[in-house]
Amino acid sequence: MTERRPRKFDLVVFGATGYTGKLTSEQVLQGTPSTLKWAIAGRSPQKLELLAQDYNRRFPDRTPVQTFIADLTEFSLEQLASSTRLLISTVGPYIKYGTGVIEACAVYGTHYVDCTGEFPWVYDMIKRCHKTAKNRKAIIIPQCGFESAPLDLGTYALVKCIRDELGCGVSDVTFAVHDLKGNVSGGTFETTMTVFEHATLQELHESSAFDALSPVKPGPEQPFRSPVIRDEHLGILTSWVNNTGDRSIVFRSWGLMDEGNYYGKDFTWKEYQRVSNWVSAIIWFIIMKVIIIVPLFAPLRWLARKLFHPGEGQGPTDEARRGHRVEWRGVAIADEDSENPRKAFVTVQSTIDPYSLTALCMVQAANSILHNTDTLAAQLGGGILTPATLASPELFRLLDRAGLKIEAKII
Ligand SMILES: NC(=O)c1ccc[n+]([C@@H]2O[C@H](COP(=O)([O-])OP(=O)(O)OC[C@H]3O[C@@H](n4cnc5c(N)ncnc54)[C@H](OP(=O)(O)O)[C@@H]3O)[C@@H](O)[C@H]2O)c1
Repeated sequence: MTERRPRKFDLVVFGATGYTGKLTSEQVLQGTPSTLKWAIAGRSPQKLELLAQDYNRRFPDRTPVQTFIADLTEFSLEQLASSTRLLISTVGPYIKYGTGVIEACAVYGTHYVDCTGEFPWVYDMIKRCHKTAKNRKAIIIPQCGFESAPLDLGTYALVKCIRDELGCGVSDVTFAVHDLKGNVSGGTFETTMTVFEHATLQELHESSAFDALSPVKPGPEQPFRSPVIRDEHLGILTSWVNNTGDRSIVFRSWGLMDEGNYYGKDFTWKEYQRVSNWVSAIIWFIIMKVIIIVPLFAPLRWLARKLFHPGEGQGPTDEARRGHRVEWRGVAIADEDSENPRKAFVTVQSTIDPYSLTALCMVQAANSILHNTDTLAAQLGGGILTPATLASPELFRLLDRAGLKIEAKII
């Protein structure tokens, strides 16, 4: 990777005092080389100092973590971006706080990873910052947490399996959340509400198109798919709220890889959730619609905040998280000239809870950007890219070792 001037740090976690930020630092401590020069950044010196003391006491053999005081002023973000090779940001809602952070990283050629799920904001960031990031050789990977790293990598694994074993592309991928136990943090809840306060209906509509983030437009035609179906491999399936955000990243990967030719020119993709029977399928379909509609209206946002907000900086307790898990399953159909094209099946199984999974994906993406020169992202050199452009056997091995198993096979 081209490095211009030496930087004080290899990696900085910005938002390190928050719920996801703390889990991210734990992943840095457990899953990066002990010689990594890193810092935790945020606006509260006291909170940062306490965390740094704890980390340095528990991990005496690592290069000590340092603290970096930063707020969201232009000057502060410039100082932050120019002091590190890579920045992980967990300061959200990103649509409210994140634009200046990405802009500074793009301008200073600083690699960047985050865990936003706010695809209207990512759509805007691509328009504003992709070119600068590419020119300055900053690899920027948004949506690299629960949304949308596991399924972007899972889709890549399916396509690679079919390419390697059958020598052709893929015509369709269907994913389902097979099993999920978890709860949302205050930051995630607030973000869901805030997106609808900051993006106009027109922006929401534009950025929801399946190919909104794809560098190749128009993307392949997506036929209508019933929101409730039965799949012979995945079971009874119904709508899932993350389909739009995950799909937008998958189609950016689709377009970044040989202009859509690697995945397949007629590639289609959809994500559902598995349910046990048809009645649940209908009930969940209605619940998903309500989850999408409520944040659109200010009085309903107010009511939702009053009734359901977990509290700022709060999230599932350590004990609760130990019982949380997630597994997705997916099926890809080979683009073969046959009445019965062959298929591949993937399990994307996290033995850790969704928030630790988010932290793991961001930290291993950062590791890959800093240390692996054999990825598509490294070849492209910079720009707003996707988790799948970091795919490598080493990344899959490190994720597997830490709790995310992605296994694809022909069925
Ligand atoms: N989509 C996914 O897969 C996924 C998964 C996990 C998290 N997330 C996203 O990650 C974000 C963080 O969630 P969370 O639950 O960790 O939130 P949180 O606990 O509220 O943490 C927010 C962090 O941002 C910092 N911050 C807020 N305003 C700031 C400002 N003006 N200047 C500097 N720092 C500021 C906070 O600092 P203080 O401690 O000083 O207040 C804190 O460190 C949310 O947007 C959430 O949606 C997404």
